[in-house]
Amino acid sequence: MKETMSAAFLPGDSTVEMRTVSVPTPGHGEVLLRVKASTICGSDIRCIYHEHLGKGPEGYQGVIAGHEPCGQIVAIGEGCRRFKTGDRVIVYHISGCGVCNDCRRGYMISCTSEKYRRAYGWQRDGGMAEYMIAEEKDLIALPDELSFADGAQVACGFGTVYEGLEKIGINGNHAVLITGLGPVGLATGALCRKLGANKIIGIDVVPERMKIALDLGLCDAVLASGPDNVAQVRELTGGFGVERAVDCSAHHVARATAIRATRKWGRIVFIGEGGKVEINPSPDMIHDQKTVYGSWVTSTWLMEELVERLVRWNLHPADIITHRFPLERAADAYALMASGKCGKVAVCQDEELA
Ligand SMILES: NC(=O)c1ccc[n+]([C@@H]2O[C@H](COP(=O)([O-])OP(=O)(O)OC[C@H]3O[C@@H](n4cnc5c(N)ncnc54)[C@H](O)[C@@H]3O)[C@@H](O)[C@H]2O)c1
Ligand SMILES: [Zn+2]
Ligand SMILES: [Zn+2]
Repeated sequence: MKETMSAAFLPGDSTVEMRTVSVPTPGHGEVLLRVKASTICGSDIRCIYHEHLGKGPEGYQGVIAGHEPCGQIVAIGEGCRRFKTGDRVIVYHISGCGVCNDCRRGYMISCTSEKYRRAYGWQRDGGMAEYMIAEEKDLIALPDELSFADGAQVACGFGTVYEGLEKIGINGNHAVLITGLGPVGLATGALCRKLGANKIIGIDVVPERMKIALDLGLCDAVLASGPDNVAQVRELTGGFGVERAVDCSAHHVARATAIRATRKWGRIVFIGEGGKVEINPSPDMIHDQKTVYGSWVTSTWLMEELVERLVRWNLHPADIITHRFPLERAADAYALMASGKCGKVAVCQDEELA
């Protein structure tokens, strides 16, 4: 085993700093992973890369970046109970205390322990390195049928979307509107297809992203964001509007469109984070009997269910990755993701780079 490794840090000001650090040793209940794929999330750009804007759970504490890691166990600490060297695993990206009510439900994302809740790539070292330490309890087994790049997508994006879609329920009765076609919006299109959605309509402002959604067959129709969006969506849905809408943009205009373009009795889920929205509750929601859900990441058990479904559906989340970079070019990877002119961007090693 090497003694030192290369790792990426995000000092702010839209920069990436590569440093040489010690390869860590796994402690009790921990494993050492050879990171194979580590993808970049919109949250990394929004809260860390440009400026350290995040607070609390989104506060970046100068650790190794990357909260979407997937890799192979190369060393194991004492006291591990399930996983062993050689196992392929996804890291659920928040390590919780394990004993608060949220942790016991599997939602370590909302762990209430100030001392023990630490997200990988935010408050503890993440996946933008040759190796990383993870707690065994945060690992999800990666099925043989899925690649490490597939797994990295599950660690945050696909897991988050699956949770949101489970909340609103998607089936063949539904036309679905997706506002925001970044990686999270693209993941929504991919999962809605497999859940049987009857028609999928996307909205974005970046032409490259609109094209990717159509080229990958994740949307049936794509609209450029504009003042006529609600009318356009109604026109595409027999005058009614969609039964389900998913906001993956966090933009106030898109959020209002998601609510207004949803038909009576419909359901909307907000996944995009930050920002605001202004609505008129009576006409926009109350009189049309609509429900708006909020959804934050997912639980470990639902993530396990998702990987099982991905195999059954033959759905490969890595299909939305448009660019792969070696670790030493992490700076190019973050800059590309910040430009928005891409699908998902991944930093990869070994077989995932070939
Ligand atoms: N709720 C959660 O648990 C959770 C988890 C992961 C990510 N997120 C959030 O989800 C969002 C999407 O993540 P991503 O990685 O795809 O980020 P992203 O920034 O790449 O995607 C956002 C997309 O919205 C588009 N957009 C901006 N304004 C718009 C408008 N007015 N109308 C339509 N589209 C518009 C952008 O062009 C972009 O393509 C981010 O806000 C991220 O922080 C939330
Ligand atoms: Zn994320
Ligand atoms: Zn907890």
